[in-house]
Formats: sequence, structure tokens, C-alpha cells
Amino acid sequence: TTAPGAAPSAEVAVIGGTGFYSFLDDPVTHAVTTPYGEPTAPIAIGTVAGRSVAFLPRHGQGHAFPPHRINYRANLWALRSLGVRQVLAPCAVGGLRDEVAPGDIVVPDQLVDRTSGRTQTFVETGAVHLPFADPYCARLSAAVQGDDVAHGGAMVVIEGPRFSTRAESRHYADQGWTLVNMTGHPEAVLAREMTMCYSAIALVTDMDAGVEEGSGVSQEEVFALFGSRIERLKELLTATIGDLPDPDGCSCASWTEGVDVTYEIPGR
Ligand code: ADE
Repeated sequence: TTAPGAAPSAEVAVIGGTGFYSFLDDPVTHAVTTPYGEPTAPIAIGTVAGRSVAFLPRHGQGHAFPPHRINYRANLWALRSLGVRQVLAPCAVGGLRDEVAPGDIVVPDQLVDRTSGRTQTFVETGAVHLPFADPYCARLSAAVQGDDVAHGGAMVVIEGPRFSTRAESRHYADQGWTLVNMTGHPEAVLAREMTMCYSAIALVTDMDAGVEEGSGVSQEEVFALFGSRIERLKELLTATIGDLPDPDGCSCASWTEGVDVTYEIPGR
């Protein structure tokens, strides 16, 4: 269903990644427009564990947008305009080290930006330097709990859409980084600029080229693995939404205190 005129709102958002295009039962979809253009898809709103939840498929319906063509600013602005304060961001990742294996779910605590040419900010003017030493919300990340969920590790975000060469992959592993992905940046920083708490929930779909024997990563294995774990991921998200911390007082929102923020933060 598409909503008629009522002002839509949601407290929590899930941004679904590769292989993850729907989450809610009986959603109402809203075509949200932003000063940055259209989000990658209409936003579905429904109820999960008693909370109003917005769902946005990061790559659009039918995976229309590859990682470097996603309108990250429109996506994050649109979610904030609905009132969203906490964003759970599942994503497919490659594993760089033996301590992870395909099928694992990892909540990273660090991010490394190896993208190029992506617009990574809403800031156009003024002195607005947000703190980003800890790119993910520690409180929100701690709420993602399960026997099969690991916490910690750095996720390096590459430009894509190609996978890494073996040498690049070994280099990332040598740096001590654990996961590699194509969409985690600038999503996390734009969420912070929009004063929303944000956690990445990474599903390891493959071992990246530096670790894997044979011909390297294929798109086919990424989609197949994601498909085999999607129900578990949805279950984990539902449990997490039922046990979220209160976003009030979180530093993800309060960093703007005393800062002359020069862009519009909608929905506040
Ligand atoms: N997403 C899933 N697997 C990946 C990999 N090996 N490299 C980059 N992004 C990925």
C-alpha cells in the first residue's frame, strides 16, 4: 500500500543491503523527496516489536543502484525527515582474516574509508567538524546480541563495484582490518551528521581474494550466502528492535551542541 496524505513517521530504520529488499509485514510505503534528490526507493513503514520502523533497501528495488551510485545523502536525509533516531544497517561483507568465516555476523567498531569521489557530507559551508573517532554508536551496537554475533573489528570500505585484487586484499588484512565492504561509507558519517545513532551489522558472505583459494570472490557466492542467512538476520534485527537503548542523551545526537550546524537536519 502507498499512504495517502498522512504525515509518516518512524523511530527506527533498517537499511537493507545486498539480498535484503523487504523486512516489514504489511508496510505502508512513502515516496519521500529530499533537497538531495530521491532516496534509492520508497520507504516502507511498519511496526516491529511495538516500534515504528522504516525500511529502505539501500540498492533500490531489484538492486537498481550499485554501491557507487547510491544516493546516500538522500537516503539518510529521508530517514531523518521521518523522525528516525536509530539506524540499523545490515550489509554484505568479505572476510579478510581467519577469525571470521562466511555466514558470520559481525558488528564492527571501526571503519576505514577507501572510497573515492563519493559525496560524504551535508556540510557546504562553515566550521562543522563532527567527531568520528568512533564511527558507530556503541550503545546501539551493544544492543545487537546473539550467540552467533561477534563484536569489534574494522571494516574497510572500497569504491567498487569491482572486488579487490589479491594484493589489495592482503594489504587490508595486513593492516589488521577484519571486513571489506562497498557501502559502509559514507552511510555511517551521514547518519552522524543527521544526528542519528548508527550500527553496521555485517554478514560475511565470502572470504576476500587475499584469503580465499582459487579465483577470488564472485557475485554469485555473495548472493547465495546472503540468501542462506537472511532469515536469521531478520530475526536478529527484530530482537534488536525489541531491546533498543533510549537514544536520548546519546553523543550521536549531542555532538551538535555548541556547533553552528549549517545544513538542515529535518525531523527534529
Ligand atoms: N561485499 C560482500 N563481499 C565483499 C567483498 N569481498 N569485497 C567488497 N564488498 C563485499
